[in-house]
Amino acid sequence: MPDFDLNKLVRPNILNLKPYRSARDDFKEGLLLDANENSIGSSAEFGGLSLNRYPDPHHAELRAEVGKFRNVNPNHIFAGNGSDEAIDLLIRIFCRPEKDPIIITPPTYGMYRVCADSHDVPVIETPLNPDFSLNPELVIQSASENNAPLIFLCSPNNPTANSLNPNDIKKILLETHSVVVVDEAYIDFSIEKSFVDELSSYHNLVVLQTLSKAFGLAGLRIGLAFANTEIIQLMMRVKPPYNVNSVTQKLATEALRNPQIVQKTIRELLAGRNFLEKELGKMAAVEKIFPSDANFLLIRVPEAKSVYKKLSEEGIIVRYRGDQLHCENTLRITVGAAAENSRLIEALNKILT
Ligand SMILES: Cc1ncc(COP(=O)(O)O)c(C=O)c1O
Repeated sequence: MPDFDLNKLVRPNILNLKPYRSARDDFKEGLLLDANENSIGSSAEFGGLSLNRYPDPHHAELRAEVGKFRNVNPNHIFAGNGSDEAIDLLIRIFCRPEKDPIIITPPTYGMYRVCADSHDVPVIETPLNPDFSLNPELVIQSASENNAPLIFLCSPNNPTANSLNPNDIKKILLETHSVVVVDEAYIDFSIEKSFVDELSSYHNLVVLQTLSKAFGLAGLRIGLAFANTEIIQLMMRVKPPYNVNSVTQKLATEALRNPQIVQKTIRELLAGRNFLEKELGKMAAVEKIFPSDANFLLIRVPEAKSVYKKLSEEGIIVRYRGDQLHCENTLRITVGAAAENSRLIEALNKILT
């Protein structure tokens, strides 16, 4: 177990924070005249929910269901309004503006920097190697030299699609005094095991997951953080009291009770990924298809920006990623439904020949 003192990393104002006590902290039933809600009723209905009442601020049912699904004690689980909320909270908990930097490993998910920038928190870049593998020594050195309380690693990584080597992540977890956030938004498409299973081994580990990808619930906004109870309690104290609405809590809980639907979607998307890899592999103009452990592919084509524009003229929207480090002339393509994948291949065949 690494030497890790959480209290030294948390911002003093957060350690001293007296959290907002919401009306639903104490009583959920009875004659509820405590929260200035509308006791007559709601102006819209959904699924028999009492939408005139504030939602459960502790997300008890949802966290219990996540716990069953991921085999984790609910005390180690935080639910947020998308994992973007968890990223934002972690930066607010650990980083003093203009002082405590986060470490990111470009090319990677853009929200780590956007959140840090919006809080005036410095960002130190320790890039991935050109083959998109981690350079653990560089991350460890950079975190130590800059006293960085937070390191963001993304695996499988967006936009490069590869998983980071778990041993490199473990080395960083062991050899830094920082909190290491492993963003596993795409883990359900990966052959790698989730770091959620490593929570008891590393007290400085936070794993992020989301229901936006494999669960197909991007519109509901559910992000999850898994960590030791002290970090989870800090996140619960700092979050807005009603950060996950009643509809989202109910539908996400139901989705977690039906894992066979998710498993089927994952199988279909992985078959779609294989199809795209095979068809793109036949196109002479496609210079590289980067190995993918996610529900998207990163490919290199000549004049990628112009290919991106031509695809959009055909009504097909992909992401140009050629402006990211080590990603010259690349496009990031989300695996679609079977008919969408065929349409994309048809359009690319036309554009690239
Ligand atoms: C790596 C990564 N993390 C987090 C997110 C955001 O997830 P959510 O929809 O839960 O906010 C994304 C979305 O694309 C992502 O690619």
